[in-house]
Amino acid sequence: MSTNGDGSPLPPLHRPRYGVDAPAVPIVNGAAGVACCLAAARWRRGRTATAAVGAVLLAFTGVYLHTTLRGKLRVWARELDRIGLKGDEQLLDLGCGRGAVLIEAARRLPAGRADGADLWSGKDQSGNSAEATLANAAAAAVGDRVQVHTADMTALPFADGSFDVVTSALAIHNIPSHEGRCRAVDEAMRVLRPGGQLLIADFWWMAGKYAAHIGQGTLRPLGSGYWYGGPFLGITLLHVVKPTEGTGAQTMRRRTEGNA
Ligand SMILES: C[S@@+](CC[C@H](N)C(=O)[O-])C[C@H]1O[C@@H](n2cnc3c(N)ncnc32)[C@H](O)[C@@H]1O
Repeated sequence: MSTNGDGSPLPPLHRPRYGVDAPAVPIVNGAAGVACCLAAARWRRGRTATAAVGAVLLAFTGVYLHTTLRGKLRVWARELDRIGLKGDEQLLDLGCGRGAVLIEAARRLPAGRADGADLWSGKDQSGNSAEATLANAAAAAVGDRVQVHTADMTALPFADGSFDVVTSALAIHNIPSHEGRCRAVDEAMRVLRPGGQLLIADFWWMAGKYAAHIGQGTLRPLGSGYWYGGPFLGITLLHVVKPTEGTGAQTMRRRTEGNA
């Protein structure tokens, strides 16, 4: 059972609506799937192949919608339970959108704070806005500990080391260039305090690149509940604990020794 930082059970979550990630994807695929099935019902030639394509597109759309509406919420609830929050942490969610992760985190921080940063792109999430996020936080009874900021992940308006935990769910890959994505990852590490935890969930091939850029952390696939249509569009979690001065020096030393 999910619990507050103080060990009491979390109350059930009422009414928040988190929208659909990249809504054009299920609309286009779903419409193409329906069109193929209708065509298969009318045509004789190529009926089996057309019906098969339609079925695949509809299955893709169903899995996608399950992930965006339910699966990712369950996965994040599980992952946030795993990281040992005490309940008084300052957490930052990068690309928070309508608050799916931000609010799930805030529920575990009765004596802490959850900040979200976003540019509110409606292409990346339906109905995306700061107001929608704050309304969701209020509906989940965590409005008093949630703040949102209109800010670009590649240039965060926060001081170095201001957060105990930084999260980001399916957001960094939206930055078009590799350099921009690396800047966002650098910014996430900069605003994290030494010893703090960074959790980035993104497409598996992207998460691997972020890990290579940072040069540390563990990678773990998050399972079928977080597939955007199928395993080829699965999400992997990068988990990094920012080195404290001592451990950083040790890591550096080990690397230097390894190179010698
Ligand atoms: C697919 S949505 C995911 C939202 C949320 N993390 C979730 O899992 O429900 C991606 C989010 O990243 C935001 N985003 C994209 N580029 C951004 C940038 N450069 N800085 C801040 N936010 C950005 C979008 O506005 C959108 O809200």
